[in-house]
Amino acid sequence: MTNQEIIALNDRFLFPLYARAPIALVRGEGCRVWDADGAEYLDFFASTVVTALGHAHPKVTKAIVEQAAKILHVSNLHHSEPQAHLAQLLCENSFGDRVFFCNSGAEANEAAIKLARKYGSELGDGRFEILTATGSFHGRTIATITATGQEKVRRGFQPLPEGFRYFAYNDIAALEATLSPRTIAVMIEPLQGEGGIVAARPEFLRRVRQLCDERGMLLIYDEVQTGMGRLGSLFGYERSGVVPDIMTLAKGLGTGVPIGAMLANERVARAFTLGSHASTFGGNALTCAVGVAVVHTLLEDGVIENCEKQGRYLREKLQALKSKRIRDVRGDGLLVGAELDAPGGDVVEASRKRGLLINCTAEKVLRFAPPLIVSAVEIDKAVAIVAEVLGA
Ligand SMILES: Cc1ncc(COP(=O)(O)O)c(C=O)c1O
Repeated sequence: MTNQEIIALNDRFLFPLYARAPIALVRGEGCRVWDADGAEYLDFFASTVVTALGHAHPKVTKAIVEQAAKILHVSNLHHSEPQAHLAQLLCENSFGDRVFFCNSGAEANEAAIKLARKYGSELGDGRFEILTATGSFHGRTIATITATGQEKVRRGFQPLPEGFRYFAYNDIAALEATLSPRTIAVMIEPLQGEGGIVAARPEFLRRVRQLCDERGMLLIYDEVQTGMGRLGSLFGYERSGVVPDIMTLAKGLGTGVPIGAMLANERVARAFTLGSHASTFGGNALTCAVGVAVVHTLLEDGVIENCEKQGRYLREKLQALKSKRIRDVRGDGLLVGAELDAPGGDVVEASRKRGLLINCTAEKVLRFAPPLIVSAVEIDKAVAIVAEVLGA
């Protein structure tokens, strides 16, 4: 099928929920993808910050093929080796003591919200409220749009569940003013992705941790976008050294297969008991086998080191374009934002026409999030395209 034929089918049969570029991607290899008409693109979007290891990584393909030949799915009423291995790997490489597996970022956050509420309910002092930051993004389910600190995602879906309040990101006084005797948790992205590539300041995070400790509240990190090596360490919380009680993961964990995870320390995890939560596909044998391959590859093949190194290089190269419409370059690892002087949709489109896939968040911020295996040569090529577009 051609791009046009695929687009015509989608236009006829899908809900028109996404502003899609007029190309259908059919194949990928490393940081490159091809559309149905044979055009090649450099993928600096990683399919929405998902393909941490790039496309068609041989170790991922091997894990999929081997697991598919054995067993695809094991019910959670039985035990499964890939699930056990991935849980062990995640816990042994993080603060987490226990893991719940699910299928997406929103579901991981739902699980975190439920765990925090259950923990509060067991304290027995009426605490259930969760504070989240303005500009945050936590998902598209009813609870996670309520947690999301952006009015536009909630519009039209009222009534929303009670128990969520918002504070200005990076503003400790605002957070303190939002606290109430009913607050059980603060949920935060260590670096806001959808909110425009804005990092939480380390001193802000330290103070939030301190407040949580003083008041017996939980600190939840939404690492759906920042986890799995994206910021140059396996998890984003390692960047500031502030350790949360609960952490959620998805996107890069499966590098393209749908998997999410919610981790917690033992003290908090104890609030979930038999029957508290569940997911049919959560911990699926195929997705967990891929997760195991992803974690091993990130840790053992120098991928995280590459992310740190190439991330620095990418930011330096973008800084050099500051005279051309770029007002600010920020981010960490390979989650990099270039803030423009005006909305960036035209830059995204013109870049695509020249063979580069990027996107724009928070209207004006070009987001560069290539696979973590990206090379300096690929960065040179991508930045040259952006330079040409901005200069045009
Ligand atoms: C920080 C964060 N949390 C949650 C989500 C939702 O994840 P999903 O789309 O897999 O439900 C996203 C998606 O962009 C995200 O960036």
